[in-house]
Amino acid sequence: MKLRLEQIGHSYFGKSVIENLSLALASGEVVALIGPSGCGKTTILQIAAGLVDATSGSITRAYSRHAVVFQEPRLLPWMTTLDNIAYGLRVSGTPRGAARAAAAERALQVGLEVGDFAKYPVELSGGMRQRAAVARALAVRPEVLYFDEPFTAVDVGLKRVLQDLVIEAAARESFSALFVTHDLAEAVRIADRLLVLSTRQGGVIAEHDIAGLPGQRSNREIFELVEEWSSDPAFAELFGHEDRVRA
Ligand SMILES: Nc1ncnc2c1ncn2[C@@H]1O[C@H](COP(=O)(O)OP(=O)(O)OP(=O)(O)O)[C@@H](O)[C@H]1O
Ligand SMILES: [Mg+2]
Repeated sequence: MKLRLEQIGHSYFGKSVIENLSLALASGEVVALIGPSGCGKTTILQIAAGLVDATSGSITRAYSRHAVVFQEPRLLPWMTTLDNIAYGLRVSGTPRGAARAAAAERALQVGLEVGDFAKYPVELSGGMRQRAAVARALAVRPEVLYFDEPFTAVDVGLKRVLQDLVIEAAARESFSALFVTHDLAEAVRIADRLLVLSTRQGGVIAEHDIAGLPGQRSNREIFELVEEWSSDPAFAELFGHEDRVRA
């Protein structure tokens, strides 16, 4: 077990946003966390990553290194792409040459080219920036990766390419990941297990093991699971068609 959240509660300025949330992340497991906007997904991820303190409950982390990929790339504008990717390693004390060599390897893995290394973030396309953000996260060889809707802003075709990068990296390096999304098809492609969050009841309202290995599911299998699960009442809030589901 890499991460365990037990009975987590959180309030902002006295207003409760999470109650009784429990979840666990096994070694090498990718768990998708899906739920409607405002239900507390980002808050949960930040609590898990130690960026926000929970108001109640307990957290057990059985790992030493993690990385976070946010919805926006969050690259430093005054650093080149390669130095941005090397940044996490530099901060943790890796010498410049070694950090840049590791960063170059990661950059190529996510589909950046040597000609992009010296570019500044402003010179990259949105998709390339997000590739760099993924490379920066992978560069520190994290045991746990936290993703907060990382591909929401990219177009559909590129989204699949970036999802595949994550699927390949997870298989190759067997990190554990908590992947927040509001896209059910993305969750079904990328994860081993799916947790559905509710705004109303608080906490996890449904859980599904996803058959097969990420990366080996056909488009048809993904489509059929999405169809099946999106007619589950647990997903009603997510898709905003409660009436249809109830009918
Ligand atoms: N720093 C903050 N201060 C006060 N309230 C906050 C803060 N961050 C989030 N909230 C509130 O907490 C609730 C949960 O927010 P959170 O960002 O965790 O939701 P989310 O599920 O990630 O939503 P989205 O899908 O839109 O990203 C929301 O009602 C939000 O307004
Ligand atoms: Mg969010």
